[in-house]
Amino acid sequence: MQQPLITNRFVERFNLSTPIALAPMALATGGNLAAACARAGALSLVGGGYGDLVWTRREYRDAISLLDGNPQDLSRLGCGFISWKLAEDRSAFDWLLDQQHKPAAVMLSFGDPTPFANILSDHKIPVICQIQTMAQLPQAVDAGANVIVAQGTEAGGHGVNELDGRSTFTFVPEIADWLAKHSPQTILLAAGGIADGRGLAAAMMLGADGALIGSRLWATTQSLAATSAKNVALQAGGDDTARTSIFDILRGKNWPEQFDFRAIRNILHRKWEGRIDELRSDPAAAIEDYTSGVRQEDYDRAHITVGQDVGLINDISSAEEVLDDINQQAARLLNGGNTEK
Ligand SMILES: Cc1cc2nc3c(=O)[nH]c(=O)nc-3n(C[C@H](O)[C@H](O)[C@H](O)COP(=O)(O)O)c2cc1C
Repeated sequence: MQQPLITNRFVERFNLSTPIALAPMALATGGNLAAACARAGALSLVGGGYGDLVWTRREYRDAISLLDGNPQDLSRLGCGFISWKLAEDRSAFDWLLDQQHKPAAVMLSFGDPTPFANILSDHKIPVICQIQTMAQLPQAVDAGANVIVAQGTEAGGHGVNELDGRSTFTFVPEIADWLAKHSPQTILLAAGGIADGRGLAAAMMLGADGALIGSRLWATTQSLAATSAKNVALQAGGDDTARTSIFDILRGKNWPEQFDFRAIRNILHRKWEGRIDELRSDPAAAIEDYTSGVRQEDYDRAHITVGQDVGLINDISSAEEVLDDINQQAARLLNGGNTEK
């Protein structure tokens, strides 16, 4: 691990060399990506997602074995879960708590974090809560969050729907102001739309201690996303994504109504947007169409989960290279330099 170019309380608390956390992306942040980011000095959260025990156990163990007993690298390895799903099945969460390797942190998103945050605090495991509105902030702080992730609607993957959601640019400073007044020890990360050093530096200027990055690290050689999906994403721009619940209906995921997710707005998406009630009431034919799209890796029908920052992604390189580029550019900008690479 390099000496940090940017030092602050987030970097120091989690023994990092860059103020970046790898997002726990369900089915994409597996052991290989998490290990690469931990070795490169970022806080790395395996994508425990819906709490699938078999998947989480395999990928978390993979990360540990790839880190090969190096205590520094292991000290940056944690996991993330979807709270409303944990309330239905917490077997993966319980398994994680039983492991010899204590997670560097556990991130809880989407739903009431309180019962799980309490258990984590009892185990002295740092708690990260990802939130999308100011209304969720007191609950997360009261639950004992050591880190708040302020997620704007630009973000890839799930978040609060367009009606209630916030853009990163106003959400982060509003949270920073609230925390300064009510809970100054709580660390703040920005999420949503951060894919390069400009984004990281901007987030820090807005009052964040760092950034949680999903889409940009999804588009790396180590993520578990299909290569064909990454190649399609490379051709997409920021105008090509939208938030929707269409793909959750087609996948049979019973997300609470407040949440939907951002993905590439493909042909199937366009066919059903504006007709969600119709889709919900009679989804069978659309599910067949979607499922065959997934099988054939046909991304006119299968979804690709990325954020608006897909327009800033121009290559599929290694996670180490991506983190290094972001870190170097942000450090230069924060020191008054320019945006050139
Ligand atoms: C492919 C993908 C899967 C995601 N899965 C999860 C998840 O399982 N749990 C979660 O808390 N957030 C998930 N997210 C959201 C991230 O935590 C984060 O908020 C988001 O990626 C930040 O925005 P960005 O994609 O612009 O970097 C996912 C994001 C992506 C792109």
